[in-house]
Amino acid sequence: MKKLKIIRTIKEMVAWSNQNKSQNKIGFVPTMGYLHEGHLSLVRTAKENSDLVVVSIFVNPTQFGANEDLSTYPRDFERDISLLENLEVDVVFFPNNQEMYPTGYKTWVVTDEITSILCGKSRPTHFKGVTTIVSKLINIVNPESMFMGTKDFQQLTVLKQMVQDLNFRTKIIGCPIVRENDGLAMSSRNKYLNEIERKNALCLSESIKSAQKMIKNGEKSPNKIIESVKKIITKKSGKIDYVEILDERTLKFTDSIDEHSRLFLAVYIGKTRLIDNANLNV
Ligand code: PAJ
Repeated sequence: MKKLKIIRTIKEMVAWSNQNKSQNKIGFVPTMGYLHEGHLSLVRTAKENSDLVVVSIFVNPTQFGANEDLSTYPRDFERDISLLENLEVDVVFFPNNQEMYPTGYKTWVVTDEITSILCGKSRPTHFKGVTTIVSKLINIVNPESMFMGTKDFQQLTVLKQMVQDLNFRTKIIGCPIVRENDGLAMSSRNKYLNEIERKNALCLSESIKSAQKMIKNGEKSPNKIIESVKKIITKKSGKIDYVEILDERTLKFTDSIDEHSRLFLAVYIGKTRLIDNANLNV
């Protein structure tokens, strides 16, 4: 088996990248750890499309709001390492907070408009943290391509916008959502769900399927579909943060359903906030 290199400092990560960049296509998968099949699918796609693969594990404090789950966010470094070793990843970049945000840190990367809708409404400082950390990671790892999940469709859209606006050379490749057998989108936060909540959490994927069926049967009104989705969610005790149908290219509202219509959901199941999304024309 290939030897996995664990790098904890920016200096060493930059040196490794400089050394390997000219001869190899470097693929990069940024994560916050507690890896599941969703993350691993990104790693597999990165391996297929790159010569060398770097995975970062960093629970980024600046993307968590004051009352969010930073302190309880699940972590299992040993397990993550063994999963990545099995996939023959080349480097795990595992910096600590002081390394990424040293005392006196002052600079932020902010994307407008598309960060104040959907998740940005209830998590107003979240995307500023994401765009900042991902800018830093891109500069440190200097990858040819970065592989990200459509599970976080808004994050993917924001980062594609950032890369374009700030002329980063790294390409962003969006990869499909990986789900549990019963349809629940995989997420590190699924660990928070108790047995009853785990069952109720199916309302997200079930309401997506039902919306897709309504469209297949000819429904064209976004509002009617949204109302029906909300009913399915509240019936399973889900507390709605948002249910929206937007054009997936622009994240703008549409009057009528077309091939670009995507359903976006954020729902509290108990105390756990879960998100999901899907194109409605399948
Ligand atoms: P994290 O939630 O750990 O997710 C890391 C990557 O895995 C993201 O690109 C996310 O979209 C993808 N992912 C998560 N669940 C998935 C699933 N079920 N199927 C497919 N892909 C999935 O997203 C973050 O971390 C952070 O915001 C980060 C980008 C690392 C910046 O801190």
